[in-house]
Amino acid sequence: MSRDSELAAMFFAGALLAAVTAHADESSLVLAAGDGLNKVKSSCAMCHSLDYILMNSPFQNRAGWEKTVTKMIKVMGAPITAEDSAIIVGYLADHYGEDSLPVEGGGS
Ligand code: HEC
Repeated sequence: MSRDSELAAMFFAGALLAAVTAHADESSLVLAAGDGLNKVKSSCAMCHSLDYILMNSPFQNRAGWEKTVTKMIKVMGAPITAEDSAIIVGYLADHYGEDSLPVEGGGS
């Protein structure tokens, strides 16, 4: 490795760290209040940060959240009952996802 590429690699690592830190600061995680928030907090934060929900929310709709929650249960092994998962999907779809966003310039 040349000295230049070593420097470049160090710079890259530093920039990455800064980006991660900035992200952690910015979302000291206040999820929207609502039915299901407690279930989300208790069911979805045991393996990873609730940040995952915020990071994914721009691309999700109700069907997407359903898929995500099913994947967490079936693939990742999340111990969530069918009843709770319905509440969680409802909460996520209502608060985090394209279904919940006001349509841009829609004027409603
Ligand atoms: C049993 C552990 C576990 C639980 C509980 C869990 N997850 Fe995950 N989740 C994971 C793993 C592992 C990943 C993949 C991480 C990665 O790819 O870096 C993941 C990734 C995600 C992602 C990123 C997108 C994707 O599909 O990979 C989202 C969004 C997510 N989880 C949401 C949730 C929600 C919402 C809940 C609660 C219903 C939940 N998780 C509960 C383990 C879990």
